[in-house]
Amino acid sequence: MGAIATSRRTRSMAYDPVARALHWLTVLLIAAEYTVGLTMPGIHRNTRVGTLISIHLALGSGILLLIVLRIAWRSRHRPPPPPPLPRWQRYVAAGTHAALYAALVLTPLTGWATASAHGWPVRAFGLLPLPALVAHPPHVPPWFWEAHVFMVYWVLLTLIIVHIAAALYHRLIRRDSVLSRMLPGL
Ligand code: HEM
Ligand code: HEM
Repeated sequence: MGAIATSRRTRSMAYDPVARALHWLTVLLIAAEYTVGLTMPGIHRNTRVGTLISIHLALGSGILLLIVLRIAWRSRHRPPPPPPLPRWQRYVAAGTHAALYAALVLTPLTGWATASAHGWPVRAFGLLPLPALVAHPPHVPPWFWEAHVFMVYWVLLTLIIVHIAAALYHRLIRRDSVLSRMLPGL
């Protein structure tokens, strides 16, 4: 009886299964996207879209689609009530999550604009053709690439590091239930 009550309580403090699935799928795809981005050849004036670059465009635009779905799901499904944390920590967490969502949209958008500027077609997950985001000029200005790289490292990666550090802080130092909101089995 006690065990059932505890498991119900834990479940009601956790994100719903769809939100959890979307969270961990995003983590997997973002990790793959960084790996491909760092492995593929640098882009020069006459670079052709090789296999790794094609995978990067397909996966990155797929991530964008997934994030749009995730934000739509989130807007209709409230997260569980906040854990008992000091008010400033709840504000910092909410701010970081909002910034993560914004970066998860803007990073692929800057990449998509770079690909369109080079005249490369973009298909989400290699299947769904997307229109060119910008026209293809004779000489692609460097700021397309610079904007994407800025978002990739200085914004998205920084937020991810802060976010993971916070999750580990809750788990290993405060030893509270924050991580089990996304990983209820833990
Ligand atoms: C969250 C999603 C994404 C992540 C994490 C990501 C990550 C990266 C990384 C790590 C690089 C290598 C940067 C370097 O040279 O150090 C890169 C470059 C690039 N990405 Fe992405 N990317 C994402 C989405 C996209 C999307 C959606 C597209 C296009 C549809 C795209 C197009 C490009 C292009 C064209 C480059 C090469 C820029 C250049 O070297 O001129 N990226 N990206
Ligand atoms: C690519 C890496 C990651 C991204 C982009 C990401 C993104 C997000 C976002 C946007 C939320 C807010 C969910 C919402 O309220 O709608 C969230 C929540 C959460 N994430 Fe991540 N996450 C990443 C990796 C991780 C990792 C590696 C862990 C665990 C070590 C983790 C643990 C959590 C937890 C516990 C929550 C719930 C926090 C709470 O409600 O108090 N995340 N994540």
